[in-house]
Amino acid sequence: MTEYRPLRIALLGAGSVGAQVARLLTENKAELAARVGAELELVGIAVRDLNSPRAEGVPTELLTTDAQSLILGADIVIEVMGGIEPARTYILQALNSGSDVITANKALLATHGIELFDTAEQVGAQLYFEAAVAGAIPIIRPLRESLAGDKVTRIMGIVNGTTNYILDRMDSTGASFDEALAEAKELGYAEADPTADVEAYDAAQKAAILAYLGFHNEVPLENVYREGITKVTPEQIAAARRDGYVIKLLAIAESLPADENGPAGISVRVHPCLIERTHPLGSVRGAFNAVFVEAEAAGSLMFYGAGAGGVQTASAVLGDLVSAAKRHVAGGPGLADSVHANLPVLPIERVRTRYQITIEVKDQQGVLAAVANIFTQHGVSIETVEQTVARAQDGKRVSTATLEVGTHEATEAALAAVVDALAVSEVVEKITSVLRVEGI
Ligand code: NDP
Ligand code: HSE
Repeated sequence: MTEYRPLRIALLGAGSVGAQVARLLTENKAELAARVGAELELVGIAVRDLNSPRAEGVPTELLTTDAQSLILGADIVIEVMGGIEPARTYILQALNSGSDVITANKALLATHGIELFDTAEQVGAQLYFEAAVAGAIPIIRPLRESLAGDKVTRIMGIVNGTTNYILDRMDSTGASFDEALAEAKELGYAEADPTADVEAYDAAQKAAILAYLGFHNEVPLENVYREGITKVTPEQIAAARRDGYVIKLLAIAESLPADENGPAGISVRVHPCLIERTHPLGSVRGAFNAVFVEAEAAGSLMFYGAGAGGVQTASAVLGDLVSAAKRHVAGGPGLADSVHANLPVLPIERVRTRYQITIEVKDQQGVLAAVANIFTQHGVSIETVEQTVARAQDGKRVSTATLEVGTHEATEAALAAVVDALAVSEVVEKITSVLRVEGI
């Protein structure tokens, strides 16, 4: 038997995630009460349309369109509506009236997170958001708590299931981007409008949140460099496979030292890149997510699992709910993030990584030297060069050759200068592919 008064839980949203939260809260009521030491009483579920069909297990008698009244009487508010407004206003109202808030809303946190965290701190309320990045995978709490005494140096994540599914299908079947996207839509991974996923807006929001936690630093979303996967070609995928790589959309947040180009800071970026197939992130298949964290003392850590899905994401929401409820029962202040680092979020030009550049060149004397010279002029050191010559059916040479150049680490700025120079070089017919190589 529990002794503490029942805690009043308001749920905002009964869609993919909210419906599963409501079902699990109802079905597991007794067990959750035993774990928390108080009953968790779901007092209402705010939705837009009372007449929309609801998933099985949703207590429809609790549905309401009056979110504000629901928030007023709640101890804990769970926001799984999505979008910026009215979610932002509702969360601020809840915090200001002393309720703890749980949200899965990465779009809101990435754009208004600081306002929400500051409000929570000022009023002594808590804001939990385990579900906002990588669905069911526990990654927020490890960064916020378990690694709070360590120094994170780099976070690399596959944080968008839709794009990982598409790239994986392109890799395993040879499909084009459009074919793999159509399949992802059929299976319900990709939305009718897939822009947020394939153009990496969703991954950029998640990268901003991970970087904020990992580096104790504000990360404005506009400072996150973003490139989607729409231009990834079957030829790039096949070449990657041949060379022992796989192409993944990675969200990368890392600390960069001061150098001749400027002060130390952090870099946060999302883009497709080559990663060795043997790297832990290289084997993440289908719509799964994974986050690889490097920390000074802990070393390398990998977090892997379902990055989306109603019931999987509901698991993360309920974990937060148990934490929030336990805090109510135990009393005392909860946890507050420290955002003390005050480091600049550096532009992509400051990033140092390796690159793989594929170009078509004239198959004539002196071409290799001319190409090498361009790299040298811009201070980019070549690590590997592979040349293949296309032959006509009759076995005679055609006039172009393909050069695949792998570089040592170079700055993005130097690499961009090389690409510009190659583009106007007389010996270069076409730049076929430029990809960053990560995970070294
Ligand atoms: P859905 O679109 O499936 O559900 C949204 C719910 O919110 C619906 O029940 C809708 O009501 C309700 N709602 C929307 N606007 C309002 C409003 N103004 N007033 C009251 N109710 C409103 O979204 P999901 O469940 O997929 O996602 C919810 C959140 O979880 C989002 O922030 C998303 O980014 C995040 N998330 C989702 C994941 C997933 O796999 N789906 C994974 C990780 C995070 P009605 O049903 O009447 O339209
Ligand atoms: N659209 C997202 C994805 C859902 O594909 O990963 C989870 O945030």
